[in-house]
Amino acid sequence: MAGLFDSGMIGKTRLRNRLIMPPVATCYSDNGYVTEDLVNYYRRIAEGGAGAVIVEAAHPWQGIAYGSGALGIWDDSMIEGLSRLSEAIKSAGAAAFLQLGHNGPQASGNQVSPSGIPYIRDTSPKELTIDEIIEIEDGFAVAAERAQKAGFDGVELHGAHFYLLSCFLSPYMNKRTDIYGVDSEGRTRIVCETIGKIKEKCGRDYTVSVRVNAREGMEGGIDKDELKAIVGHLEKAGVDIIDLSSNDVSFPAQLKRCTVSTVSIPRADAPQGIFTAYAAEVKEYANVPVITVGKITDREFAEELISKGKADFVAMARPLIADPNLPKKFLSGEEINSCIYCNACIGAVARNRRMVCTVNPDIK
Ligand SMILES: Cc1cc2nc3c(=O)[nH]c(=O)nc-3n(C[C@H](O)[C@H](O)[C@H](O)COP(=O)(O)O)c2cc1C
Ligand code: SF4
Repeated sequence: MAGLFDSGMIGKTRLRNRLIMPPVATCYSDNGYVTEDLVNYYRRIAEGGAGAVIVEAAHPWQGIAYGSGALGIWDDSMIEGLSRLSEAIKSAGAAAFLQLGHNGPQASGNQVSPSGIPYIRDTSPKELTIDEIIEIEDGFAVAAERAQKAGFDGVELHGAHFYLLSCFLSPYMNKRTDIYGVDSEGRTRIVCETIGKIKEKCGRDYTVSVRVNAREGMEGGIDKDELKAIVGHLEKAGVDIIDLSSNDVSFPAQLKRCTVSTVSIPRADAPQGIFTAYAAEVKEYANVPVITVGKITDREFAEELISKGKADFVAMARPLIADPNLPKKFLSGEEINSCIYCNACIGAVARNRRMVCTVNPDIK
């Protein structure tokens, strides 16, 4: 069995190790365009030794993100900045992937969703028509083509955390009675068709990852059986890797702002590797590699996940914000600047402010 610092393949791309920076929205963009701060931030993450960087959600349409600091990919004029970003990551030795997202019912305006069910209280997202769904699939494919032109090794469709594609996958959020709902095949259709359209535009070898929720933590949400069905449909559609996130099902209380409980960024008191059992579960039946994430802190813990075959790749978000050099330090034994899981980073970004870090003031 491989170890954390053995190389691994995602699609046709070889990674120098199995430690990945997962997507982290930073608010360092300027009205969707890449800035020098954004390039420098990602360069430092890659220079720290991660095997791959999955760049934060880039949005194929204007006005469907959380605010003006969100990264965009809605126009060809954005390819130049995105090229500088992928180049900074790749020249530091990491593979570069780009997440593509549509905030759906969580957009700052014009919220849309599969069935009009709100995510944010007191909002009324519009239920998408079939024509609009097809336009969205096409838009993702055009964005993937831009990502490819910008030099990214592949794209990841954001199908987790109750954003648009996630709501389609969720039996709780998707009550459609047409071909985009009803059963797991229908609910997964928008993602499967999008994978097909991306492969048509970018070539069959262009890597497509899908990030999904392993569990949703409420009655009628994604459960063990539904997850298995989703993974099966995605595999049939040609997905190259599953990036498995989740909600913390031990925290079912309704949040003030949202209609459902959504703790995908584990709290400080959550156990290490809170979602890793789900990756091990998916590894039992999946034919494509699986990324696990969620409060993974220690080298030994991460090593064991890989060596025992419980995951193919380990993603660490906040630990790499706190210390981008963590992968190198895992190898050298140097002391790590540890994340304290205070969530000041996400607190800032959620308010459309630049990401900060309590223990790493240099981050920007
Ligand atoms: C500031 C911040 C921004 C995030 N932005 C994204 C995002 O754009 N897309 C996504 O799929 N997940 C996003 N996440 C979730 C992380 O990728 C990761 O799944 C989560 O933080 C749990 O991993 P960790 O415990 O290693 O931090 C974000 C997390 C943080 C802290
Ligand atoms: S702000 Fe807090 S939770 Fe976020 S990376 Fe820094 S220490 Fe960790």
